[in-house]
Amino acid sequence: QSGYVTLDVGYKNTGATQSSITFLDGELGILKYRGYPIEQLAEKSTFIEVAYLLIYGELPTADQLAKFEYEISRHTLVHEDMKKFFDGFPSKSHPMGQLSSLVCSLSAFYPESLKSNQTKEELNQSMIKMLAKMATIVSWIYKKSLGHPVMYPLNKFDYVTNFMNMTFGQLTEDVEIDPVVVSAMNTLLILHADHEQNCSTSTVRIVGSSESNIYASVSAGISALWGPLHGGANQAVIEMLEKIKEDGGDTDKWIAKAKDKNDPFRLMGFGHRVYKNFDPRAKIIKKACDDILEKLGIDDEVLEIAKRLEEVALKDPYFVERKLYPNVDFYSGIIYRALGFPTDMFTVLFALGRLPGWIAQWKEMKQNKEPIGRPRQIYNGAVDREYVDIANR
Ligand code: SDX
Repeated sequence: QSGYVTLDVGYKNTGATQSSITFLDGELGILKYRGYPIEQLAEKSTFIEVAYLLIYGELPTADQLAKFEYEISRHTLVHEDMKKFFDGFPSKSHPMGQLSSLVCSLSAFYPESLKSNQTKEELNQSMIKMLAKMATIVSWIYKKSLGHPVMYPLNKFDYVTNFMNMTFGQLTEDVEIDPVVVSAMNTLLILHADHEQNCSTSTVRIVGSSESNIYASVSAGISALWGPLHGGANQAVIEMLEKIKEDGGDTDKWIAKAKDKNDPFRLMGFGHRVYKNFDPRAKIIKKACDDILEKLGIDDEVLEIAKRLEEVALKDPYFVERKLYPNVDFYSGIIYRALGFPTDMFTVLFALGRLPGWIAQWKEMKQNKEPIGRPRQIYNGAVDREYVDIANR
């Protein structure tokens, strides 16, 4: 208040809020949602149950879960006028740009979400709608990239099966959605569901702190996630692994490039602002890679390259000194690809997974009645200058 500020560029050592949603211990590599270890949730829960846990704070009873799923099923359709926005995108435009725009345009159909001081029930309805429609929009973006007709939600399916059916189903014939694929997708979405005050979640909270509606807040989060240093890393990892494969798989050469300060190349999927140990999610995904590729009978050479890179990097002093380990993005793309997704859809899948966390954090920020986010700065520009007419400049 006395006008002094502590400079902390990138908020490396700043606590922006108090939260009871997700706990990280970066030194020990621990991640818990509402106190439950990520390992147990990944193994035993489902994505929609974890969404309930993150948003409402408790694991649901069977009745609560059934009611939650029923409420979501009432809102899985997207207004047909959304197709006008879809049709406006060039066919090869990046899915993340489409997703951010389309999610923000949802506010056009729900003017009640623009009201200030919404009731608890109105807020809950807008969160349910956001969760319900995201899967439909994501699948429509994929179908558009293929030039295929979109599929519609079938509420006989659970949330993830519905998403996979809208994505890989066909109008022309019945497509069986493999339970192995649904189970893998549940695990991946659970692992991405929240991660305390990361870049995109902080964006959702700060946009929401101005009383912006949930659609605009989530849309801003999607834009932040797009960056290759954040969620965009899962796409960048596969592109990097493919480049190494085409280059003959010489991992030592690429590790050397990652260490070379004169070379802008970074080992994508490695390093983390908080984890100075293994990212627990990377451990789970790495194991899931072997299981799922084996079950699906897929042999993906880039998995071997990824494992070799990890092995070499973890012994290299440059990475050891800087405590750089594989993060959630290092192996996830290998599974997404095995499940049939194209590379440019990977970050959209990260957004689908992170959505319950964004919603839970946005809700917590509003419940805590947090003030509008407005950091200060250290000014280091020109001080007193007199205006000079253009003729004299
Ligand atoms: C996600 O915050 C979250 O929780 C994010 C996330 C979530 O769930 O929301 O976990 C998801 O975004 C995971 C991170 C995905 N990004 C990448 O994989 C991109 C590659 N990694 C980095 O660019 C980097 O590690 C960050 C962005 C993840 C973290 O950056 P920091 O904390 O700002 O650290 P830094 O860039 O200052 O790096 C510290 C040192 C530097 O070297 P020195 O200046 O000390 O000599 O480590 C080096 C960096 O050059 N370094 C790397 C490196 N990552 C850091 N060197 C080579 N390859 C890398 N990948």
